[in-house]
Amino acid sequence: MERREFLSWVSVGVLASSLPAAIAACTKQPETTSASPTESPLATSPRPDGFIPVGTVAQMDQQGFLSNKQSAAGAVIVVRDPKQANKIVALSSVCTHKGCTVEWQKNQALLTCPCHNSAFGIDGSVKKAPATKPLATFAAKIDGDMVLVKA
Ligand code: FES
Repeated sequence: MERREFLSWVSVGVLASSLPAAIAACTKQPETTSASPTESPLATSPRPDGFIPVGTVAQMDQQGFLSNKQSAAGAVIVVRDPKQANKIVALSSVCTHKGCTVEWQKNQALLTCPCHNSAFGIDGSVKKAPATKPLATFAAKIDGDMVLVKA
């Protein structure tokens, strides 16, 4: 085998071995923001009373909030009302500015958006721009160990 032929084969080998990595890099999905490392897998159809299970009380209390992006009610975040611990509040977790996922900041009793720093009150009201519209709110209740939300 001549030197030129050998180098040609080596070049083909290098290209072939790096192709899968190049394809994977090009098809990598962008990271999404998430309010919760443990999204609730519950995404069922509404019960006869219209409420939809979005997670368990244990999940909510363990994390301090409950996030479910795929519930039948849409992407929701449920937190305990800082002023009344036995009351829960459910809001859309989709920021009204450009659609990122808001995060619960228990110490500030605010929902904040990591994308452009909008902030929302527990009632969904805008506390800090650039968002100008409030977060949607949902009726919510606890039934046994389940956290339920009504769209
Ligand atoms: S998407 Fe939330 S502040 Fe811009």
